[in-house]
Amino acid sequence: MKVAVLGANGQLGSDVCAAFVRNADDVTALTHACVELTSATSVDAALSVANPEFIVNTAAMHHVEKCEADPAAAFAANALGAKNVADWAKKADAVVVYLSTDYVFDGKKNSPYHESDVTSPLNAYGITKLAGEHYTAALCPKYFVLRVSAIYGLQPCRDKGGLNFVELMLKLSRERDKLRVVDDEFVTPTPTVQIAEQLVALSRSKQYGLYHGTAEGSCSWYEFAHEIFQVTGTTVQLERAEPGEFPTKVQRPKYSVLENGALKRAQMNLFSDWRLGLQDYLRARVKADAPKIY
Ligand SMILES: NC(=O)c1ccc[n+]([C@@H]2O[C@H](COP(=O)([O-])OP(=O)(O)OC[C@H]3O[C@@H](n4cnc5c(N)ncnc54)[C@H](OP(=O)(O)O)[C@@H]3O)[C@@H](O)[C@H]2O)c1
Repeated sequence: MKVAVLGANGQLGSDVCAAFVRNADDVTALTHACVELTSATSVDAALSVANPEFIVNTAAMHHVEKCEADPAAAFAANALGAKNVADWAKKADAVVVYLSTDYVFDGKKNSPYHESDVTSPLNAYGITKLAGEHYTAALCPKYFVLRVSAIYGLQPCRDKGGLNFVELMLKLSRERDKLRVVDDEFVTPTPTVQIAEQLVALSRSKQYGLYHGTAEGSCSWYEFAHEIFQVTGTTVQLERAEPGEFPTKVQRPKYSVLENGALKRAQMNLFSDWRLGLQDYLRARVKADAPKIY
């Protein structure tokens, strides 16, 4: 299969390229240097040369504070970018995948969100990603929208300046004796390698539509940090932060756990428990000699 990956040198895009290459697909890796998502002309030119049957759009502006400060730029990348890709895919009769986020929800539920739950994003990032979902679904009949959450991988997260949560905790534990971490925000940490394998499985299916795609289970950021230190045998005094101790300028959902209901109904769910995903990541980072920070 001819596959094009947008955001190919990103945290997720790198693993997506590797997974399709392992699967012996013909992969065109499109970085920001090759294509400007916000320009229909640029998207058209890059995709016309690659001529893919299956497009994975991981590219985004997703630094939450930067999106809030410049919503027009966020809308251009996350929504109009998705439109440009979906327009090309429709013309070419190709399949498009749009990577979306748990931040399309407001976090007021306290049980996992289903694909059928009402969206209500709290910030510009979530609003623009939701618009990207709508453009993708409305414009291209052969589409997948995959909502992911709290992702981490061996390649640096480019928009967030490099360090994922695991690497940040390990770095801070080397620098400080004591760490305080929020215990009132619940997510499902999901390794990018698992998302990449799930995308390969979706590429073999014609069951188009909206999917939640995260690891199984959930935890607070404090519980995630606790597990990281336990598995790595790191000695550091870890404490639960008080609610509101680390105020942020931008509102985020307090609970954004997703249920992979549609993947399970289609018998395609490949995700493991988040703890197993973390163990695999920690083993892989030792082999890879830890992620590079830039
Ligand atoms: N990180 C998370 O925790 C998280 C959680 C939920 C959902 N997601 C979603 O998952 C996806 C992948 O995230 P990630 O962590 O892999 O991000 P990342 O490491 O920041 O990679 C994003 C990629 O998109 C490229 N890009 C940005 N703007 C572009 C534009 N206008 N035109 C073309 N390319 C552009 C970036 O290139 P440059 O860096 O060269 O600009 C980079 O290669 C995103 O869609 C994000 O919304 C992420």
